[in-house]
Amino acid sequence: MYNIAVIPGDGTGPEQVQAGLKVLNAVQEKFDFKLETVKYDLGGDRYLQTGEILPDSVLEELKNFDAIYLGAIGHPEVKPGILERGLLLKLRFELDLFINLRPVKLFPGVYTPIKDKGPEDIDFVVVRENTEGLYAGTGRFMHKGTNDEVAIQESINTRFGVERCLRYAFDYCRAKRKQKKLTLCGKTNVLTYAFDLWERTFNELGLFYPEIERNYAHVDAICMWMVKNPEWFDVIVTDNMFGDIITDLGAIIQGGMGIAAGANLHPGQVSMFEPIGGSAPKYAGKGVINPLAAICAGAMMLDYLGQTDAAACIEKAVGAVCSSKLKTLNAAEMGYSTDQVCELVIEHL
Ligand code: IPM
Ligand code: MN
Repeated sequence: MYNIAVIPGDGTGPEQVQAGLKVLNAVQEKFDFKLETVKYDLGGDRYLQTGEILPDSVLEELKNFDAIYLGAIGHPEVKPGILERGLLLKLRFELDLFINLRPVKLFPGVYTPIKDKGPEDIDFVVVRENTEGLYAGTGRFMHKGTNDEVAIQESINTRFGVERCLRYAFDYCRAKRKQKKLTLCGKTNVLTYAFDLWERTFNELGLFYPEIERNYAHVDAICMWMVKNPEWFDVIVTDNMFGDIITDLGAIIQGGMGIAAGANLHPGQVSMFEPIGGSAPKYAGKGVINPLAAICAGAMMLDYLGQTDAAACIEKAVGAVCSSKLKTLNAAEMGYSTDQVCELVIEHL
């Protein structure tokens, strides 16, 4: 039995999570394990009603779960930054979820905007550092509001943080990937402190992983190649900001936000699983959001918990539904409702 905290969150988050939980329920009978869920009403609505974002007592409770299943954070009536910093990033930081793992995999039959590329070309994983970099939130204003204003935003890169992220990427590549090729995505030609540390650590650790082919590329070139030659990539490891940016590009080449899932990990501790597409408020309550991203996040959660067969079973069912049924993976264009897509996945399990 596993104890799961569920945070449906804002916008379409609750619909996505509901569908995801239905699939998880269906699969647990088949594979003989049990998920015990507790819901938390964190998000924009609670903030607007009570002023609370993430009370310390809730944060403490969350540490006792095996995993957290998150819908989406972001509310049109709340100023950007408040919920992101106060809830999503706070969870990542306070729970020390130092890896953000984002697979980019095109299922057969799914539309990719890249001409002449198919599932055999688009199948890689991004390992994004998740607790440091520009996201650390340090910096300052000087002379705020004047013509002399200066805004400083610092990128924090510690040897400890960089090393544990790279080590995870090497280990992941060794354990899970056939091609065994790890690409460091940086900007050593301009960010000569931060990525010097990343590159040195990458090369030092690499000596302990002789079977893994090491590569380095600048982030701008990676963006170009992700479109031109996505087949060059197997595992990409990068810092928090670059990881944020390239994984949206990754999501769109794998068919869109409707299928993109991510895991916020601290191996051995409570970790958090989420569709990466955001709350999509304009579709909220309409039953048209694509639940596959949340369903895939659920599969990643099961994989993390050790239920690897159940996770593979969900992934296979999602692949089958993508290939045979859905017109597109975009909200409101699938040819099916959220519930219907969920039922199709359950039929295929
Ligand atoms: C993501 C999101 C978040 C991020 C936002 C909502 C803070 O874009 O998970 O990629 O920038 O990390
Ligand atoms: Mn993002």
